[in-house]
Amino acid sequence: MTIKEEVLKNQIPQHIAIIMDGNGRWAKKRGNNRIFGHKNGVTAVRETVEAAAEIGVKYLTLYAFSTENWARPKDEVTALMSLLVESIHNELTTLLENNIKLRAIGNIDSLPGNVRQNLNQAIQKTSHCTGLTLILALSYSSRWEIIEAVKKISAEVKNNKLSIDAIDVQLFNQYLNTNEYPDPELLIRTSGELRISNFLLYQIAYTELYFTPVLWPDFRKDDFFKAILDYQKRERRFGKTSEQIKK
Ligand code: FPP
Repeated sequence: MTIKEEVLKNQIPQHIAIIMDGNGRWAKKRGNNRIFGHKNGVTAVRETVEAAAEIGVKYLTLYAFSTENWARPKDEVTALMSLLVESIHNELTTLLENNIKLRAIGNIDSLPGNVRQNLNQAIQKTSHCTGLTLILALSYSSRWEIIEAVKKISAEVKNNKLSIDAIDVQLFNQYLNTNEYPDPELLIRTSGELRISNFLLYQIAYTELYFTPVLWPDFRKDDFFKAILDYQKRERRFGKTSEQIKK
C-alpha cells in the first residue's frame, strides 16, 4: 500500500498550514547560496499544492515570507520577491486547470508594487475556483495581525459601533486576516526546528503540530501524506477527557 492509500479519506484535515523552513541549510549543504535553496523550494511548493488538491484538503496556508524576513540581506529579499512573481506567473494556468483559488494573508500593502499587482491579478483570476484554497502568508506575522485586529476593534468601540461586552472569541476571529477560513487542524514545520515563529498564533490554539527534519526543498508528496497519517493517529480532545471524546 502506498502512503497516500493509507490516508483515511474521511478524516482529511480541512485546513493545513505549513512553515516552509530549511531552504538556506539545503543550499549550504550543497555549497550554494541561500537563493538557490529558495529556487528549489518552489518544487516543494508545487508538490505540496498538488498533494493537497489530490487528497481533498480545502485550505492550505503557506508561510512564504514573514514580517521579520524583511530584515534579511537585501539581495535575498529581492530574490524572494522575484521568485514569488515568477512562480505566480508560471503557475497561474495550473491553478486554474486544477480549480485552485489563490488568496493571501499578511501586510500585502507592504509588498513591492509589482508583487502586489501580480498577486492581486492571480487572486482575481482564480476567484471563481471552488477546489483547494491556497493561502500565501506574505509579509505576515501573527503579532502584527493581532495588533491590527485590536486597533480595528478599539476604533469601533471608540465610535460606539461596538460594545466591549460583544468582544468574544468569535468576534475577534472576524477581525483577523483568516476570517474566511477555519482554524488549521494541522500545522507542519520542516527542517527540524521546533518553533512557531510568529505564525497563526491565535488560530493554532487547538491545532496538531507536526515537525519533520526534512528540509523544505526536499519535501515531497509522501512527506505531506505522512504528516496527515500522523495527524490521523492523534486524539483531538479540545480540553475534554478521552472518555468524553469517545462518547
Ligand atoms: C525558509 O527557509 C523559507 C523562506 C523564508 C521562504 C520560502 C519561500 C519559498 C519556498 C519560495 C517561494 C514561495 C512560493 C509560495 C512560490 P530559510 O531561508 O529560513 O532556511 P534556513 O532556516 O535553512 O536558513
